Amino acid sequence: MVVDDFLIHGLSQVALVSVLLVSRAATGCTLWRSSPGSRSRQSCDVSLGSWVVDPGYPLYEATSCPFIEKEFDCQGNGRPDRDYLRYRWQPSGRNLSRFDGGDFLNRMRGKKLMFVGDSLSLNQWQSLTCMIHVAVPAAMYVLTRVRDVSVYTFPEYNAEFLFSRNAFLVDIVSTSTGRALKLGSISSAKFWAGADVLIFDSWHWWLHTGRKQPWDYIIDDGKIYQDLDRMVAYEKALHTWANWVDAAVDPRKTTIFFQGVSPDHSNGTYWGKPSKTSCIGETEPILGSTYPGGPHPAEVVLEKLLSKMKKPVHLLQVTTLSQLRKDGHPSFYGIGGHRVPDCSHWCLPGVPDTWNVLLYDAII
Ligand SMILES: *[C@@H]1O[C@H](CO)[C@@H](O)[C@H](O)[C@H]1NC(C)=O
Ligand SMILES: *[C@@H]1O[C@H](CO)[C@@H](O)[C@H](O)[C@H]1NC(C)=O
Repeated sequence: MVVDDFLIHGLSQVALVSVLLVSRAATGCTLWRSSPGSRSRQSCDVSLGSWVVDPGYPLYEATSCPFIEKEFDCQGNGRPDRDYLRYRWQPSGRNLSRFDGGDFLNRMRGKKLMFVGDSLSLNQWQSLTCMIHVAVPAAMYVLTRVRDVSVYTFPEYNAEFLFSRNAFLVDIVSTSTGRALKLGSISSAKFWAGADVLIFDSWHWWLHTGRKQPWDYIIDDGKIYQDLDRMVAYEKALHTWANWVDAAVDPRKTTIFFQGVSPDHSNGTYWGKPSKTSCIGETEPILGSTYPGGPHPAEVVLEKLLSKMKKPVHLLQVTTLSQLRKDGHPSFYGIGGHRVPDCSHWCLPGVPDTWNVLLYDAII
């Protein structure tokens, strides 16, 4: 039944058999997201579903997570409503396991799990550290941050949970003529070797211009560009990342995840409001399973790329479920206060907890 889908990916029969065995044993699902519209999606696809009120939510309180960052601590920053905390993602095809932080920590004994990406990756890392901490509040942990790397360690378990800030995945190098974004070069990969689980993301920084753009020109395939279509540049960088995975990663040692594109809610036309409205004041998800704004263009690019890779990469299908959560952002209750509403990141507890439910579901 799934054979057609795998053949689309250009796998040999031998590789096909081993991937199927690995993935069936792990989850009863294929590790790979199959191509859109294919039959194997139904049982495995967790992107189809809806948000339902669950008295067991939220999975923790921010006050129980001593190291939560101010930018995600919406309740601590005075957000007055709490309904947004009550929702659980219910896929239409199957049930997800409830997150068990103690079990997760046990499974990670002697292992290293590393998030690599931008602040949406930080958002998910922070959610995971809080979810583990509240499950084992008495377990000794060490939390350090050195420059762009945050490390959360449980010495008794020899388990490490890292976040390495790396917004583009590919290199930015300083030259005499300025900062070059090199789409074909991925030298940070040397820091990723040795991790047992790697979870990548990239997208939001590809859109930045002006002062927030941390490069002066682009180098691609030996040519210099003042700028490129950002979607094209993003796709080229993802290719560089995919080539690295296909060439260098041993799937028996390292499990690779990619966090699907996290949507922001800065334009209300996508959910039937005037275009000037954003996530400000939103207190409820979009009910049902369809986002009126349609698929996220960057996610379409990402999924197309993953479907062509040779090595197994598990996509965390967070995009649609997060698109439905216009109520999940910090808005005025993030780091910017009432000056700069944040409709990109997510309150914690909140939507990234569900991203980690998907991660947990895929790992167990
Ligand atoms: C999911 O869980 C509900 C409630 O526990 C149960 O009624 C339902 O049969 C389960 N669905 C599947 C597909 O396992
Ligand atoms: C919001 O999106 C609509 C539809 O794509 C577009 O016409 C409008 O200009 C956008 N508004 C803003 C403020 O970006």
